[in-house]
Amino acid sequence: MSIKGCIFDLDGVIVDTAKYHYIAWKRLANELGFDFTEEDNEKLKGVSRIRSLELLLELGNKSVDDKTKLELADRKNNWYVEYISKMDKSEILPGVENFLIKLKENGFKIALGSVSKNALTILKNVGLIDYFDVIVDGTKVINAKPDPEVFLKGAEGLNLNPKECCVFEDAIAGIQAAKKCNMKVIGVGSEEILSDADIVICGFENVDIDILNFT
Ligand code: BG6
Ligand code: MG
Repeated sequence: MSIKGCIFDLDGVIVDTAKYHYIAWKRLANELGFDFTEEDNEKLKGVSRIRSLELLLELGNKSVDDKTKLELADRKNNWYVEYISKMDKSEILPGVENFLIKLKENGFKIALGSVSKNALTILKNVGLIDYFDVIVDGTKVINAKPDPEVFLKGAEGLNLNPKECCVFEDAIAGIQAAKKCNMKVIGVGSEEILSDADIVICGFENVDIDILNFT
């Protein structure tokens, strides 16, 4: 079955917000009295806000009640929102907009598949929102990646069979999610970390849409 639509993760694929998530989680960990490394952060990519907090607390050997969990998640999100409020077009990752333009010109459908509740704000701030036929974000799904819900909703919104969709992902959890629903998946980042993807690119610079022809 040939590819008719692309589903893009947001954080770390379209924009480098993965770094802002990392800085905000690290700030929280440090306030709570422990360190948080970039390697630790890999496990949080694609994972929901509250699950990310739980993983972080496990790393720091901390246990807190549910009310405190919500407070801590809010604290991290407030910092994160402050960072992303300053974003503009210059933070679109190299080659991304050109790739979206080529997809449109060649009749491919485009969806966003992100579990972030801040996705709309980011897409608006960087001026990419109009490229997307469908936006599935953290306000529309119950289960975060590696559950495939976010991508299945994307395919459904595009009116495509999952096998006609190709996912672009920078997170291990996202690659697992795409695989669970039989979608093709292109990893964006390091080959070493994303070895379960069908292919891995280091970014969109100089990447042509004929990359979608791999099977
Ligand atoms: C994902 C990120 O896209 O969104 C995760 O990879 C993040 O790191 C998740 O935790 C939820 O984001 P937000 O913006 O709703 O806290
Ligand atoms: Mg991501």
